[in-house]
Amino acid sequence: FDLVERAFFDVIIIGAGIAGIYTALALDEGLKCGIISKGALEESNSFLAQGGIASVVLDEDTEEEHFRDTLVAGAGVCDEEAVRVLVREGPREINELINMGIPFDLSNEGVLHITREGGHSRRRVVHCGGDATGRIILKSLKEIADARENITFIDKTFLVDILTEKNDVVGVLTYKDDYKAYMASNVVIASGGIGQLYKYTTNPKIATGDGLGAAMRAGVETKDMEFVQFHPTALYTGEDDQSVFLISEAVRGEGAVLRNVQGEAFMKGVHHMKDLAPRDIVSREIVKQILNQEEDYVYLDITNKSRAYLVNRFPTIFKKCYEKGFDISKEWIKVHPVQHYFMGGIKTDLYSRTNINGLFACGEVACTGVHGANRLASNSLLECLVFGKRCGEYINRLHKCQFLLHKKLGFDTKESTLVLNDIGLIKKKIKEVMTTCGSIVRKENDLLKSEKAIQNLVLKVNDYKLDTVDGFEMYNMLIIAQEILKKAWERKVSIGAHYMN
Ligand code: SIN
Repeated sequence: FDLVERAFFDVIIIGAGIAGIYTALALDEGLKCGIISKGALEESNSFLAQGGIASVVLDEDTEEEHFRDTLVAGAGVCDEEAVRVLVREGPREINELINMGIPFDLSNEGVLHITREGGHSRRRVVHCGGDATGRIILKSLKEIADARENITFIDKTFLVDILTEKNDVVGVLTYKDDYKAYMASNVVIASGGIGQLYKYTTNPKIATGDGLGAAMRAGVETKDMEFVQFHPTALYTGEDDQSVFLISEAVRGEGAVLRNVQGEAFMKGVHHMKDLAPRDIVSREIVKQILNQEEDYVYLDITNKSRAYLVNRFPTIFKKCYEKGFDISKEWIKVHPVQHYFMGGIKTDLYSRTNINGLFACGEVACTGVHGANRLASNSLLECLVFGKRCGEYINRLHKCQFLLHKKLGFDTKESTLVLNDIGLIKKKIKEVMTTCGSIVRKENDLLKSEKAIQNLVLKVNDYKLDTVDGFEMYNMLIIAQEILKKAWERKVSIGAHYMN
């Protein structure tokens, strides 16, 4: 350990998405903060977020309705106190973003343009750049953070482990060409999702659950690990894509209709909200339709809107589909449900605290319980803002300015004989097992068998010393997959996104 280079910060944040940067911006400027990220800005889930941010903005809307819609989508198992905080503090954070100069889209009348998405009983979603909400907000926040002297971005750096001393966090061990320790008495995990555990996901390639895996090894409590959300409408290309392009739910919010290959609008009669029912319900219905037809996709029909409207309202989606060879104002879009979001994660309280002193988590990697068994559309960016702000403010209040530097790193001395080829195969195996057994429709026996299969892989790789980013990622993916399958097997009754057949 003495040979490992060390740097000292008051706060270390893992992840440079909206949750991570917004937390950093909430810190007192006297606190020295390092934001460590594995990839570039464009590789985060936040950057890809299209639809928008749900928040009570319109006069005719109420906190109570947002609260109720969140609980209904969450299948009644949300943490109600956390949902209260989310919906009550949401509008304040939207105002804060406006004050920071974030260019939310406006209507022809010059007021905020509000769209609608699945599970919302009314229009409630603010957005930027048509369908580029995450990209625009993240870039703006990054610019503001770049100008803050107390914030340093440390990129292309992999989180290997969280360092603890008894039950206190003391820093993190990272890898970039070599190991380096960043010592801090406050560490915030804001590392995003786990989509790469599945064959098809809207998440970027970097979403291998590294923050969650490291936190689990450090001894954090996790919560709701069995709840994995599938977005109903990812672009179907017929290719073996692992990062699939999203067709935002806002497209249905503006009038698109799902059709099976016979052209029937099949959501009619399934749910009173039809195409805008909560995501788990729409995804399951699509799977049902696909099982009754030859093709692996259904259609999304937005041809009732003009080309000019679509180019303006959904520029990213229009362009992507156009590049793929079709004009969405004339042709139906082929779509299929793919992994999109992880409701479970590191168990946190209303101040983003975990059970380890000084270790916080916010954003997708955290589980406050706000999403229950199925997240309401566009509540994810809202969660990043509300709980990121609470986390930063809590650290400001509590900052102790003490460093505990005596953690001994027990580097494993075993010979590394696991070659890169094996790591690739194991990652592929995880995706196959999760996609077959841990997806939209689950079977008790499959869950049991697949959990055993993953457990055997964990036992196998435990015999090897891992010292590459690929290997670290694989290990994180394995332990998270095992926990998801275990918790899914333990929950015998279907609820929300966890559906047992
Ligand atoms: C979307 O734009 O459909 C995704 C928004 C979300 O995941 O909440």
